Amino acid sequence: MIIIRHPTEMTAWAKEQAGRGIALVPTMGFFHEGHLSLMRRAGQLADQVAVSLFVNPTQFGPQEDLAAYPRNFESDQAMAEAAGVAVLFAPDAADMYPAVFSTTVTVGKELTGKLCGASRPGHFAGVATVVCKLFSIVRPDLAVFGEKDWQQLAVIRRMTVDLNLGVEIVSHPIVREADGLAMSSRNTYLAPQQREAALSLSRALALARTLAAKGERSAERLTAALRDFIHSFQETAVDYISFVHQDSLQHVTEIDETTILALAVKIGGKVRLIDNGRVM
Ligand code: PAJ
Repeated sequence: MIIIRHPTEMTAWAKEQAGRGIALVPTMGFFHEGHLSLMRRAGQLADQVAVSLFVNPTQFGPQEDLAAYPRNFESDQAMAEAAGVAVLFAPDAADMYPAVFSTTVTVGKELTGKLCGASRPGHFAGVATVVCKLFSIVRPDLAVFGEKDWQQLAVIRRMTVDLNLGVEIVSHPIVREADGLAMSSRNTYLAPQQREAALSLSRALALARTLAAKGERSAERLTAALRDFIHSFQETAVDYISFVHQDSLQHVTEIDETTILALAVKIGGKVRLIDNGRVM
């Protein structure tokens, strides 16, 4: 596996691969099994896997965890190598965003103004801009993203089509711990006693499925039941519980097979966790 630090060198490598398929897995590092499963999936779909590791400052709000975001380059390097990655692209922020940098890609409010976008203004502009840059730098044939970040996936799909970026977007299912907790680099922020509270998200998804199987279709009644359920766990505060259409992210009043339940819950006032899934 080679490590490339500079965007210009990364593009030169991509050009040398002419004819061989490149799959990109964009990440912010601190790898867990979720990231690794994306890398292995990428390896099944293309000759060469490129992984970008960049804690993108523009997608963090002023009150968010940019400085504290967990990092471990050496272990990430070893894990990516073991997953069969050809190139690890780990640029410096100064090379991605030189002082004169002045372009932003914004996807419309109908996709970015709700769910996580409502409590994290500017977040999806940061994501769309960096992913657009990564696509230009790495020039992949396809890119793999996790369904863990369902809204991110919808935003990236929209941008890729709208801007004719010519990259196939592949989504990969959520990888979970044995107890159901969706894997996340942010799980390392949880104190041991908050672990139970963190399970409120995956358990709420299970409860929604049980209620749907019994015939409940009303998003309003389901939301009320899930809110009470999540708040029955200590130290939990619901940020949102939303039933949305899988592609448009439009809120629905009646759930069906095209509906995604998206959840965001703050644990202990600090750690914000997300999860999502189908309920029927
Ligand atoms: P990061 O949070 O590091 O996630 C990188 C990729 O791994 C994303 O596509 C995310 O959805 C996926 N992922 C994370 N946890 C997962 C899990 N438990 N199961 C399946 N996939 C999982 O998402 C980002 O970084 C950034 O926003 C990025 C797209 C790199 C732009 O900066």
